[in-house]
This record gives sequence, C-alpha cells and structure tokens, in this order.
Amino acid sequence: MLIFKQVKEIKEEFNLNLSVIKNIDQLNTLSTKFLSRKGLVASLFSMMGDIDSSDRPKAGNELNSLKEFISQEISVLKQKFSSKEVVDDLNIDYSLPGKSKNIGSVHPLTKTILLIESIFQKIGFSIAYGPEIDTDFYNFEALNIPKHHPARDMQDTFYLNDGNVLRTHTSNSQIHFMMENKPPVRIIAPGRVYRNEDISVRSYCLFHQIEGLYVDTKVSFADLKSVLNYFVRELFGNDVKTRFRPSYFPFTEPSAEMDVYWGLNSESDKRITKETGWLEILGCGMVDPEVFNNVDYDSSKYSGYAFGVGIERIAMLLYGIEDIREFYRGDTRFLGQFK
Ligand code: PHE
Repeated sequence: MLIFKQVKEIKEEFNLNLSVIKNIDQLNTLSTKFLSRKGLVASLFSMMGDIDSSDRPKAGNELNSLKEFISQEISVLKQKFSSKEVVDDLNIDYSLPGKSKNIGSVHPLTKTILLIESIFQKIGFSIAYGPEIDTDFYNFEALNIPKHHPARDMQDTFYLNDGNVLRTHTSNSQIHFMMENKPPVRIIAPGRVYRNEDISVRSYCLFHQIEGLYVDTKVSFADLKSVLNYFVRELFGNDVKTRFRPSYFPFTEPSAEMDVYWGLNSESDKRITKETGWLEILGCGMVDPEVFNNVDYDSSKYSGYAFGVGIERIAMLLYGIEDIREFYRGDTRFLGQFK
C-alpha cells in the first residue's frame, strides 16, 4: 500500500534531518516540518479518507506510531538542549584551529651540565655538591688561598653581612667532600659560582663550573692530562684542538689551564678569544699537599688531581653562542632554539 511506503520514507527523512540538528532553533524548524498542522505527518493523515475501509485501522496504527516516534525523538533532543553542557558540546566548530600548548625546553646550561656529568660518570666519577653560600674557610682558607690573595678582594668576591661568601668557585666542594669522606675520591661537583666582575660578552656576575677531584695513591699529572683529553674528545669530537698552559692556583701544584681552539674567522671570534683564537675552558693541577693536610688526608700516602671547568664557555663552544649574557636573559626566542 502506498501509505506504508510513504510512512517509511518520511521516517527515513526525519532520521536524516535529526542527525544534523545542532541547536534548539533547528530543532523547532524540524518539529514544524514534521508535526505542524500542515506538516508531513498531517499530510499523511489527510490521505486516510482515500484508503480502503478494511485497511484503515492498520494504516491508522502505522501513522499514529510514526507521529509518536517523531514527537518522542524531538522531545528527547529538546531536553538535551536545555542542559548547558550538551549545548556547548553540540556547538563545537570542528573547523576552528586547535589550541596549542607551548612546550618548554631544557636550558642550554643544564643540557651542557648533564652532558659533562654523563661523560665523567662513564669513567667512574660520581656527583657531589657543595653549598653556594659558604664560609671563608671552605672557599679560601682550606684551599690554601692566603688572606692577602687578590681573589679575596671585595672587587672579586661577594661578601654577605654575616661574613660568609657567595662561593667564587666550585673548589669549596673539594673540601666539603674530603672532610666527610676517606680516600679514594672520584667526584665531579657542578654548580653556580659568583664573582663581582664587570659584565661583558665574556663574563657575568654568576656562572657555572664543574669541579673534578681524583684522589688515590700514585695519581700522576699524566693521569690528569689523559682524563682531560678524554673529556674534550667526548665533548667536541676527536678533531678538537687543545693546549695546556702552565698556570697558578694556590690549591694545586703544578697547575695548568686548558684552552680549546675556537677560531679567528670573524670579528666576534676575535672579541670572544681576545684576538688569540683560543678559549680557556678549565683550570687544573695536582692537589697541593697543604690542602690534604687541611682535610686530614695523609699527604705522604695520597696524591690527586683537581680541575674546574667553566660551563658557559663549553656551552658557547658547543652551540656557537657568542654572548655569555644570553644564558641569563630568559628570552624564550633564544631558549626555544635548544629543544
Ligand atoms: N677554582 C679554579 C677557578 O675557579 C679552577 C680550578 C679548579 C683550578 C681545580 C685547579 C683545580 O678558576
């Protein structure tokens, strides 16, 4: 019978229309289209007169259940739209661009420290820490730095009102560790250090060092050289050009400094390397017996080496950074390059 076919078609059309309804206005329009006095369902009812009387009850049932179905669906959806979340849910515009989250990055100095730590951990060094605020004893006295030494000058050292100092180097970690541990010693100690220096492309009032300390019987300068050569090769590759220069530190004897070749190709190369092409990256030497005496190590039995690496210098070389102040500006355009 024609009417049954039409009921089926209208039901299909209704389901299709219903599936794309996004708000209450559209739902009202849909309701009018199907349920109003001149709507599609009513038009089917008006055909009842033409139907054979024996078929009429069946057709009537069919129409009534269609009308009921449509009313039911519409009222269910109406209820959904009246609860807020669903309105939002259905109003999502999937064509809008998504909200992206900015992902931070590890600071280049932290990256450099982690890298250096891993290089020394591979050959059996462990990590120790010393305090950034320390006494004159740990930062100077025990390291054999005499009272009149220029490093103690107000020009170089930040003194606190209580007489303590902001450590001027990580070498204070050597003393802390040796006073608390018996030899043998194999540590590196990273951290911040502070110096009251003029701020420029090459120096800043705070910077980072990694201290190294190795104490055992029969440790030689050759051991020191070989471990530092291993270190720079791990860091910069086998082609790195380095040189040792004799130097002086009150807590090592003999003492040396190690330079890495940076180049002299540009004006900034000249500026950074003071026209030499070389950049100093660390100070080192054999632990002075006087230091061993200060920490109660038997200086007739033990020998050792120590070194202090400037982290900023290494990071500048690794990443081609020309101005040390960049590390402390917190500019995300700079920091974002190290993801
Ligand atoms: N503490 C020295 C400095 O800050 C570096 C150093 C460490 C030198 C250990 C020798 C041994 O310059």
